Amino acid sequence: MDTPKIIGISGGSGSGKTTIVRKISESIQDFVFIPQDNYYKSAEFINNSNITEFNFDHPNAFDRDLMTKHLSDLKAGRTIQMPQYDFVHHCRLEETIEVHPKKVIIFEGIMVFYEQTIRNLMDLKIFVDTPDDIRFIRRLQRDVNERGRTQESVIKQYMDVVRPGHFEFIEPTKSYADIIIPEGGMNMNALQVLAAFMKDIVGN
Ligand code: CTP
Repeated sequence: MDTPKIIGISGGSGSGKTTIVRKISESIQDFVFIPQDNYYKSAEFINNSNITEFNFDHPNAFDRDLMTKHLSDLKAGRTIQMPQYDFVHHCRLEETIEVHPKKVIIFEGIMVFYEQTIRNLMDLKIFVDTPDDIRFIRRLQRDVNERGRTQESVIKQYMDVVRPGHFEFIEPTKSYADIIIPEGGMNMNALQVLAAFMKDIVGN
C-alpha cells in the first residue's frame, strides 16, 4: 500500500466538521476516521455543576503524545488501538477500537492543527469556518440533546472556557489550512469541489 494520506479537518466547536467528514466519505472509499475527541484525557470528576473545572478547550486536555504516536503509526502502515470517549461521563472507555491503516486517514477535531509535529504529518488541511452565533446555537442544541447537559451549564462553559479557548487556540490555526470552507456542511459548491479534489489526490 502507498503511504496513507492524512487529511486534517478543523474548525470551532459546532462548525460542522462532522458533516464535512460525512460528505467527503461519500466520495472516497478506503478511508479511516479518527476523531480527535477520542483522545480527550479522562475527567470523571466533572458534571453539569462544575463543568468549567476541567478545560476541554485547551490543547493539554488531549493526550497529545498518544495522538502523535497513533497518526505516525498509521502513516507508517501500523495498526493502532484507538481510544473511545464518553461525553456524558467525561472519561475514556475501557474498550479500544482496532484501526488498520487505509489509503486515507481523516483526523478531525477542534485542535488538530495546533501541534506542528501533527501538522507535518498531514497531506491536506481543511478548516471549516462557520459564524460564531451559528456554532453556539448548534452546540447548545447538541450538548443538551446528545451530551446530557443543561442549558445553564452549556452557557457557562461557553462563556468561561469555550469562547476564550476558541480565540486563543483554534481560530489562529486557520492560517495553516490549505482550504477554508465557509458555512461548513451547508456549502454545497465547496463540497463538490472538495469531493473532486479528494478523488484526485487519493486516485480513485
Ligand atoms: N467537550 C465537552 N465535554 C467533554 C469533552 C469535550 O463539553 N467531556 C467539548 C469541548 O468544550 C469542545 C467540544 O467538546 O469545545 C469539541 O467537540 P465539537 O468540536 O463541538 O464536536 P464535533 O462533533 O467534533 O464537531 P462539529 O460540531 O464541528 O461537527
